[in-house]
Amino acid sequence: MQIYVTNDYEAMSRRAAAVMAAQVIAKPDCLLGLATGSTPVGLYRELAAGCAAGDLDFSHVRTANLDEYAGLDGTHDQSYRYFMNKNLFDHINIDKANTHVPNGKAPDLEAECRRYEALLKELGPADMQLLGMGHNGHIGFNEPADAFIAPTHVVELTESTINANARFFADREEVPKKALTMGVGAIMRAKRILMVVSGADKTAAVKAAFAGPITPRMPASILQLHPDVVLVGDQAALAGLLETGVAVCG
Ligand code: GLP
Repeated sequence: MQIYVTNDYEAMSRRAAAVMAAQVIAKPDCLLGLATGSTPVGLYRELAAGCAAGDLDFSHVRTANLDEYAGLDGTHDQSYRYFMNKNLFDHINIDKANTHVPNGKAPDLEAECRRYEALLKELGPADMQLLGMGHNGHIGFNEPADAFIAPTHVVELTESTINANARFFADREEVPKKALTMGVGAIMRAKRILMVVSGADKTAAVKAAFAGPITPRMPASILQLHPDVVLVGDQAALAGLLETGVAVCG
């Protein structure tokens, strides 16, 4: 695992964007696995700036997002499709037909999971999978559970996740209780994982995920088994992990 520690959120965003930009430059038709949440927003802003400056070309890039809320369609301002358009796709020269997000409004969610999983297999392994991390160690919406679930599946969100996401909704009651998420299978098939973490509220989860036991109770811990993980975080988020004496790259 490569670990990069930065002073703050902005520096984390720049460093992580550089890692992703290098991927896009090295393979212009790469498949990027993308994530939502507040952590990657700065990274996306940097990529958009790189595209505006003419340094990055997304015209052949393909993307597949991790997850979507059940019950929200892509025009809902809290849907992850809307988030991706607003934070990235509307600002880069990507063909939206090459961007994929599970359909949270599908009439049959189980069938939608099967469709998305088949699509992921057809697209092939992501060249780079971007991940954030929930406070309970969730990746995508793979919540703590008794077992790791490999394929795309419907998940009941935990209280912790509903509470964390409530800040984006006018009323807590409006926060969806279910989501569709890529499972750990497609995440682990990615050739390279780029995880971004920021803030002191993530430090316990980051330490548990990378220095604790590998367990579905801490979903991100499965990344210890991946051969190529790049972890970019600010001091506050990495403080706990750094206490364990792990080597850092810069
Ligand atoms: C949501 C997303 C995750 C994301 C997490 C953390 O639950 N499904 O993919 O990693 O939020 O979000 P934030 O970056 O806002 O802390």
